[in-house]
Amino acid sequence: MKRLACALLLVLGLFMALPAGAEYGDVVLDRNSTKEGVRPVVFPHWFHRIRFRCKVCHSELGFRMRAGANVVRMDDIINGKFCGMCHNGQVAWSPERCDLCHSAKPGVKPGIYGSSETKGPGKW
Ligand code: HEC
Ligand code: HEC
Ligand code: HEC
Repeated sequence: MKRLACALLLVLGLFMALPAGAEYGDVVLDRNSTKEGVRPVVFPHWFHRIRFRCKVCHSELGFRMRAGANVVRMDDIINGKFCGMCHNGQVAWSPERCDLCHSAKPGVKPGIYGSSETKGPGKW
């Protein structure tokens, strides 16, 4: 119990140390977005991790497990690949809602904010 409380405090501490705009564990994707005149994408990893199994994305959808390792194009998403496997207006809202994904402040660096692992006893 005590360990859990410590772990939680630690996570909270890290969370509060983050720059405004990106939450703990968020991944910012920007291989082409800024270049092509839209804001970088904020992918809330934890939001998705608690709802889906890792292998749905990291094996079935083919997302490689490294921030920045995937070349994701908007055409693919519209054609039902990557994010578009779910963001198709059925499992989740559709790709027409640009701002919900392209939500980073211009100039935010791509990569993962914080860490991809929990610090607690229930480490994945
Ligand atoms: C809804 C899809 C989705 C689910 C579910 C998901 N991930 Fe991810 N994951 C991603 C995406 C997208 C990225 C970022 C890839 C990029 O930047 O190119 C990522 C990145 C990562 C990274 C790289 C982080 C880094 O530091 O470079 C790790 C590790 C990871 N995921 C582990 C997991 C684990 C473990 C689970 C299950 C508990 C999981 N993911 C569930 C989509 C998902
Ligand atoms: C479900 C999330 C999501 C939505 C909604 C979304 N995008 Fe994207 N988009 C992405 C991701 C992820 C990338 C790849 C990010 C990167 O690496 O730059 C991307 C990349 C892009 C790019 C870079 C060039 C390219 O072709 O890949 C453009 C331009 C773009 N999107 C425009 C849009 C527009 C316009 C809309 C609304 C009509 C939109 N996006 C809606 C997730 C989304
Ligand atoms: C395995 C299915 C799946 C995949 C793949 C997926 N999402 Fe989602 N996403 C969801 C669901 C379900 C929701 C919740 C929708 C709702 O609340 O109506 C969601 C919600 C979101 C939200 C809103 C989070 C919030 O706080 O409300 C964002 C932003 C988002 N997704 C971005 C992305 C991006 C970017 C990608 C690709 C890198 C992606 N998603 C891939 C299923 C998925």
